[in-house]
Amino acid sequence: MAFYTELLQAIPDYTGLSPAAFFTILGLMIAVYHLVSGMFVGPDDHRKQTAAEMQPYVPPEPVQMGDVTEEELSAYDGSDPKKPLLMAIKGQIYDVSMSRMFYGPGGPYALFAGKDASRALALMSFERKDLTGNIEGLSPYELETLRDWELKFMEKYVKVGQIVKEKTSSEDTVNSEKTRGIEEPSKETENIITDSGIIHENGEEPSKETENIITDSSIIHENGEKIEGIEESKKETENISKDLGKIDEAEVGKI
Ligand code: HEM
Repeated sequence: MAFYTELLQAIPDYTGLSPAAFFTILGLMIAVYHLVSGMFVGPDDHRKQTAAEMQPYVPPEPVQMGDVTEEELSAYDGSDPKKPLLMAIKGQIYDVSMSRMFYGPGGPYALFAGKDASRALALMSFERKDLTGNIEGLSPYELETLRDWELKFMEKYVKVGQIVKEKTSSEDTVNSEKTRGIEEPSKETENIITDSGIIHENGEEPSKETENIITDSSIIHENGEKIEGIEESKKETENISKDLGKIDEAEVGKI
């Protein structure tokens, strides 16, 4: 109580204000502070921001993409946050994920992401029509500007691939080889697969089991069944395995 009385006497001494006026002004100042600070950042947001600051954004390691078409490149424009941000200069693709603040959605240079921006960079242009890798008709000065950008990118970012008109990836080649191998089996194999004579000779209807004999010789041994002409089938089955082996070898060779 004594403290309270002393406080009430001290306020006019130090501030020249009556205690009522002092507390009114103090209350108003606190209210104004909360009002103004609340207009910019809410208390929850402020906490979130601090947590985000403590964990800075670490982009995933750049992944080599090899040959990429312009259409494929456009998927790496930041619209899918799980994909890296890519950008190309003179057909060379760079992973610019580490500069998400520049090229990510809402960034000042977001329009360059997922594109070959050579012409725009050479002309220092943000026009949509210049967002192309076509550098025909540029002046020596503009080409020099582009070269400077290229050097900057080569130094700062990891090159992850190059733009191609059409995709002829090794994977496609392997697949087409594989398909070709299966589509064009040796005459012998084709006969075994298509000629159901073996089955008909036995007088049996084609069954799942018989199909298995054609594709898997081990089943014959497991069943231990004595089917006439089985030795022949076994040999032929072995041939199929060899043929299939050839297809496999072809795949490995191509890779
Ligand atoms: C008023 C004009 C401009 C100003 C004030 C400006 C400012 C800046 C600044 C401050 C940076 C960050 C540099 C750094 O930290 O490395 C930057 C980066 C960049 N600027 Fe500009 N800029 C302007 C115009 C342009 C134009 C016209 C283009 C191209 C059309 C352009 C393309 C870029 C690119 C691509 C980057 C990012 C480079 C990187 O990935 O490191 N800027 N700009």
